[in-house]
Amino acid sequence: MPAASLEIRNLSSGYGPTRVIENVSLSVEAGSRLAVLGRNGMGKTSLLATLAGQTRRYGGDIELGGREIAGLPSAARAITGLGYVPQTRDIFPTLTVEENLFIGLKGRPKAALGDAYAMFPRLKERRKNLGSQLSGGEQQMLSTARTILGQPSVLLLDEPLEGLAPVICEELMAAFSQLASSGDMTIILVEQRIQAALDFAEQVIVMERGRIAWGGTPAEFAADKHVVEALLGVGGLH
Ligand SMILES: Nc1ncnc2c1ncn2[C@@H]1O[C@H](COP(=O)(O)OP(=O)(O)O)[C@@H](O)[C@H]1O
Ligand SMILES: [Mg+2]
Repeated sequence: MPAASLEIRNLSSGYGPTRVIENVSLSVEAGSRLAVLGRNGMGKTSLLATLAGQTRRYGGDIELGGREIAGLPSAARAITGLGYVPQTRDIFPTLTVEENLFIGLKGRPKAALGDAYAMFPRLKERRKNLGSQLSGGEQQMLSTARTILGQPSVLLLDEPLEGLAPVICEELMAAFSQLASSGDMTIILVEQRIQAALDFAEQVIVMERGRIAWGGTPAEFAADKHVVEALLGVGGLH
């Protein structure tokens, strides 16, 4: 599947009676890279979970490659081309790396595992190890690789660098950049590591209390000191 566009209009969602995402509208071009920034609790995960169909939607539309998906259940959205790598790094701890990857194949031949191993050679070395034996970085690689094996046209990544050592972060970001430049995937990256996100993205949004509080390019972001200080609560980029 080639990369697909994502069009979000007036999206509001939450959990039970609690509204979290408030009237979000956003256009992400096919094959582009969007970074989603914002402090803890501002709704970044909820936005991705809403796109993936895992929250209660109060209103609004989501079009993936021109097709309306907001009414579809989560599994159907995945089949339509939405790949979601949650912040929780969902892997099966009692299965081996290879068994975890089999789950992501979705009917593709086993040889396709080679795609995952080419992207993350560490996973090949550890293919007989249990998920529970992996480091945090390896778990993130496994969680990402399993989703990518399903050949999504839009990939949602929720804080993939959280808690990882700088050298592992660089490896992951290089893999994401490679995926993006292949033209096969549109990538939406939620990150707290601001500089890594700015280096990666073509467009940036900052979320505040479930809304988009700022939007622009990485260059505009870096030039707008107000954004950095007021919305992200930091004294400068790091
Ligand atoms: N399952 C849930 N049930 C109720 N409220 C939730 C749930 N998950 C998140 N929230 C609330 O939604 C808001 C946004 O959280 P979240 O989307 O996780 O933010 P972020 O990813 O930016 O840290 C927070 O106020 C949080 O407490
Ligand atoms: Mg989050």
